[in-house]
Parts: sequence; C-alpha cells; structure tokens
Amino acid sequence: MVKTDWTPAPSDQGAKATKKLLVKSFGCQMNVYDAARMADVLAPEGFSETAAPEDADLVILNTCHIREKASEKVFSELGRLRRLKEERRAEGKDLRIAVAGCVAQAEGGEILRKQRAVDIVVGPQSYHRLPELVRLAADGPVIDTDFPVEDKFNHLTPPSEDRIRTRGLTAFLTVQEGCDKFCSFCVVPYTRGAEASRDVERIVAEAEALTRAGVREITLLGQNVNAFHGRGESNEVWSLARLIERLSEIDGLARLRYTTSHPNDMTDDLIRAHGEAAKLMPFLHLPVQSGSDRILAAMNRKHRAEDYLRLVEKIRAARPDIALSSDFIVGFPGETDEDFEATLALIRAVDFASTFYFKYSPRPGTPGAEREDHVAEEVKAERLARLGEKVEAQRQAFNRALVGRTVDVLFEKPGRRPGQIAGKSPYLQAVQADGPDSMIGDVAAVEIVECGSNSLFGRLTEEAR
Ligand code: 5AD
Ligand code: SF4
Repeated sequence: MVKTDWTPAPSDQGAKATKKLLVKSFGCQMNVYDAARMADVLAPEGFSETAAPEDADLVILNTCHIREKASEKVFSELGRLRRLKEERRAEGKDLRIAVAGCVAQAEGGEILRKQRAVDIVVGPQSYHRLPELVRLAADGPVIDTDFPVEDKFNHLTPPSEDRIRTRGLTAFLTVQEGCDKFCSFCVVPYTRGAEASRDVERIVAEAEALTRAGVREITLLGQNVNAFHGRGESNEVWSLARLIERLSEIDGLARLRYTTSHPNDMTDDLIRAHGEAAKLMPFLHLPVQSGSDRILAAMNRKHRAEDYLRLVEKIRAARPDIALSSDFIVGFPGETDEDFEATLALIRAVDFASTFYFKYSPRPGTPGAEREDHVAEEVKAERLARLGEKVEAQRQAFNRALVGRTVDVLFEKPGRRPGQIAGKSPYLQAVQADGPDSMIGDVAAVEIVECGSNSLFGRLTEEAR
C-alpha cells in the first residue's frame, strides 16, 4: 500500500521566493497539468511564477510534438529566448532555458545542437528531478529523458492551498499516462511511454486536497484515460468507472469530467456511470479520427465505423442528453475521396456537439510517416475546410438547441461585462449571465435566452437568484 502524503503545505514549505519562473505550455491539457506541477516542484526552491519572460530567471517551454507545426513553434520560441538571454548576460544577469514535454522526449540532445542557449532538456517522466537539474545546469547543459522506474507522481511536490486557489475553481488531475495503442499516426506512445495508471489512494488524496482548497470541478486526465486500471487497497485493480464513483463521494466537489478516451476502452461499467453518477457531466470526448473502415484499419485503430456508431447508441441509451465530441484527421496516407465521404457520413450520423480536426502531419518514427501514398497538401486543405464547415454547423445547432432550456451552470469567474458572471454548462459550453460575483463557485440553474458564436447567454432562474 502506498503512503498518502498529498496534504498541501499551508505555504510553499516556507521557502522565500527569490527567483522567478515562467512555464509556457503548448499542446494538450496534460501539459497544462504538468506545467502546474513543475511550478509546484520548484516553489520550495524559491521560484515564484511570473507571466513576463523579461522578469524570469528560468523559462520552461513545455512542448508538444503531436504535429509538425506544434513542434516547430518551439524553435522559434527558443530563438526569442536566446536573444533575451544575451541581453541579460550583457547586464551581468542570467536566464536559464529549459525545454520540457514531448519535443524534449522525442529530440533529446538534438535540441542542444539546434539551439545552444538551452540549459536543460527534460522529458515528461522526469519533472520531479527539476530542482536537481536546475542546480546541475549551473555547470553546463543537462539532459534527462529517462523513463525512470519510479512513478514521478509519487515524487512531485503538492501545491499549497494558496497556489491551488490562484488556479481557479476547475482543475485537471492526471490519473493515467502513456499509451499502448500505437495508432499509426501518433507519437504519444514514443513520447509519453507505456500506459500507466496512478494508485487510487493518491488520486483520491489529490482530489480531496483540491476540493478543500475550493476546487468545484475536476477533469481526470490521461492520454487513454478510460483504459485506467489503477491499484486500490489490497492491490485490487480499479476501473475508471469505479474511480469516478469513489470521487463522487467527495463533499464539495460538484462536477467530474474525463478526457481523452479510446472507443475500444469504453466499457459497460463506464457507460453505465454516465447514467448513474450524478456528478459525472454529460459530455464525452471520444475521438474516432475517420469514418472509413479502410483508413481506420490503416490507422491501426482496431475498430470499424459501425462499431463506433453502435457504441454511440449504447452511450446515448444510458445518457440520452450526452454531448459528444471527437477528433478527426483528414488526409491520412491513402485516403481517397470515397474514404473522406465516409467520414462525412459518420459525422452526419453521430451529430457532434464539438469537434477538433487536423490535417495529417507525418511524424518521424511513426508507421504512417513511412508510407509512400501521402495525400497532396491542397487535397488535405480542401477536405479540412469541408469537414470544418459540417462540424461547425453541428456545433452551432447544438448550442442553438439550448435556447429556451434551463441548464445548471458552474460559475467560475466574472463575466465579460460588469455585473456578469461566467461559467460552463454541463455540456462544456461557455455561459454568461447577469449575477453577483458572490455566486462564483456556485452551480445555479440558468435559462438560456440567446446563443452567440462562442457563448450562450442566460438568465438566473427565480430560485437561483
Ligand atoms: N497528424 C495530425 N493529427 C494528429 N493527431 C495525432 N497525431 C496526429 C498527426 N500525426 C490528432 C488526433 C488526436 C489528437 C490529439 O491529435 O486526432 O486525437
Ligand atoms: Fe502534445 Fe500529445 Fe505530448 Fe500532449 S501528449 S504534449 S498533445 S504530443
């Protein structure tokens, strides 16, 4: 049994903040979570956070390798930081530059060769070693891209309650990391490693600590979150559904969500949880990537379009109002017009509430990149635009359908205009309503009266006021 020491320190272990840290994150929500944990692990070392690179003593770029564009961004950022470092040096001061995240993992020492101003290269499994790496960097560049045997989560410093509070009323909590699926387009199995789940006791302790500090909504994160299989008491293996049930018992926690899921891991108990667990929100991000069986097979997805449609039926039977969201890749090698039409047909059949869509980007080391039948860039662009139009229309229709209905909104912050407060519907839509700041943190019934392009506008019901 693991020891649970996720009790936040009342302050940052009494460390005096003498240095400034900027963590700039790219990519997925997992990186947002990691960025916060990097700041937590460096707080006892005397680092407080700043948003201005000019003030920083240490800048960490928390990078994304998922598509070429995301990866390239890192090097233009590094060019800017190099100039800043030189200016600093001219003033007799220092700026340390660290590259963390998936590009660090994928490129390792190559980064130092491309940009010599970099002091630290640290992979996603080694953040707990940051304090030591920062110390070592005083003597020259350091690289740590190991996949250590110990679980980094067990070595990361918990944040103080004050720090949790500054991060808002909604929080991410990583419960699973890595992926064993090896979809042929994807770098994640190489950058984040094999699938691993955290122990239940630690997750519960972290969720309780977040809730004690005022967090009202937790999104459980994992690259393959619904494949969660963490160990509970007596080494028993827990499913995600059981974890959700346990976390639902935490008083004060109003909402739970999870992301990202693979269709093949959508187990019956998890589908049932969508109908039964009151705190689990009716929104599911369930990427399908393509609607063509030929392309799905080439992508190594191990399911057909029909399987996905049956699954959606099952999920909707358990929770009829569930909002579904997906990722799509257009222009995977070998994708014909017919394959693309099959994707559009699937989109029509499911009717998504929101969708992310990308042009296929060949990633070094993945099987997709090795293929010789790449789709022309103009064709990819044209398909992306067509798909975009379709899913955007579905998103707008989903939002418009809420006008006249009353939904619960978790208010998270002041709204755009004075006297307004802003929050999210159960379906993850942004909602603005007239109301006092004192209601921030509350879940209240709101009648939706208007639908904008990116927000809904509502009025607090009589009882909510
Ligand atoms: N090219 C384009 N999109 C990709 N994704 C993953 N790998 C690639 C790639 N090589 C998309 C998938 C995934 C999302 C996070 O990013 O749709 O679900
Ligand atoms: Fe980017 Fe994927 Fe790594 Fe997240 S896990 S940082 S999306 S490559």
